[in-house]
Amino acid sequence: MRLITVERCQPGMKLGKTIRDENGKVLLCKGTELTSSLLAGLKRYRIFTIYIDDDESEGIEIIESIPAELRAEAVSVITEGLNSLVDRKGNESIPQRMMQTGRAVRSFQKVFKDILDCLSKNRVALNLLATAKVHDNYLYSHCANVAIYSCQLAIANGLPIKKIEEIGLGALLHDLGKMYIPPEVINKPDKLTNEEYDQIKTHCELGFDILRKFHEIPLPVSHCALQHHERLDGRGYPRGLKGDEIHQYAKILSVADVFDALTSHRVYRPAMLPHRALEILYAGSGTQFEIKQVQLFKDSIAVYPQGVTVTLNDGRKGIVSDYNFKSAGRPIIRVTRDEEQQVVTPYEIDLSSKDHLCMEIVEAEALL
Ligand SMILES: [Fe+2]
Repeated sequence: MRLITVERCQPGMKLGKTIRDENGKVLLCKGTELTSSLLAGLKRYRIFTIYIDDDESEGIEIIESIPAELRAEAVSVITEGLNSLVDRKGNESIPQRMMQTGRAVRSFQKVFKDILDCLSKNRVALNLLATAKVHDNYLYSHCANVAIYSCQLAIANGLPIKKIEEIGLGALLHDLGKMYIPPEVINKPDKLTNEEYDQIKTHCELGFDILRKFHEIPLPVSHCALQHHERLDGRGYPRGLKGDEIHQYAKILSVADVFDALTSHRVYRPAMLPHRALEILYAGSGTQFEIKQVQLFKDSIAVYPQGVTVTLNDGRKGIVSDYNFKSAGRPIIRVTRDEEQQVVTPYEIDLSSKDHLCMEIVEAEALL
């Protein structure tokens, strides 16, 4: 199985992984032979990359770190929960609000517990590319992904379970304030005006003001909403906090938040592959993000996910076939073409033991 862009997919290719919508409903089953009209349908659903099965990639199995059903459940709990916490008309009674909040918090805690169980049991390099995403509502799927990444990072930090659970709740709720920002501003494809950017920046305080009123929500969780855009050097917002003035949870969340934003398709730019997004985190390491968090994050995720096509510095081409737990940046490659781009009988090389070789081009990237 390998990952290719829908743009590059040809009719007749065979789908390697079942595609579901955000609610978990099956859109296309694994094994389906793709036709021009199915490919056009995928584009309409805003699906940009898919896994296909072909001879070159036979036997490469993509491990799903979080089952598609669990991710879909998380997105539906977030959708319902965030909407129930927002009283847009301002006419709900206090007991009514308290009841709704209690219910939302309990459902968030339950779904996060399932994510935590899953990640604690299977210590794999996290790869959310493996779950094909339908990009219909960025906010809800972003909150689910940030919760998954933050959970992995909190585990890597060796934090006690209570703190991991609080970070999880904070991650699920961190962008609650965006529910009050007009969608035309949030989803604007062009450059934001200064006024629009200022409007978006209010989401941290808006979320905090809602969350801190509910006694079911611990104060550090509300601070995740308030502080997730603060940066170590004081150049973040809303308060311009510096270094240790920023809560530990917010430092973890900011890494997960930026990584998911960069690796997701947005209306104004295409998604990046994980290794490129990591380079951006590294560029901000020590100034925007804690060095330790960026390092732990790199060790926790699949920097080069299985199924991605790469070109080596000697011209050979292949597919990432497996992770390398000794060295996340040097995976195992199944070579499929030689230096002259001639098809060869596939063979594998372990980049961690070949110091003279490196990956020059990660092919899907240019097309994502
Ligand atoms: Fe945010």
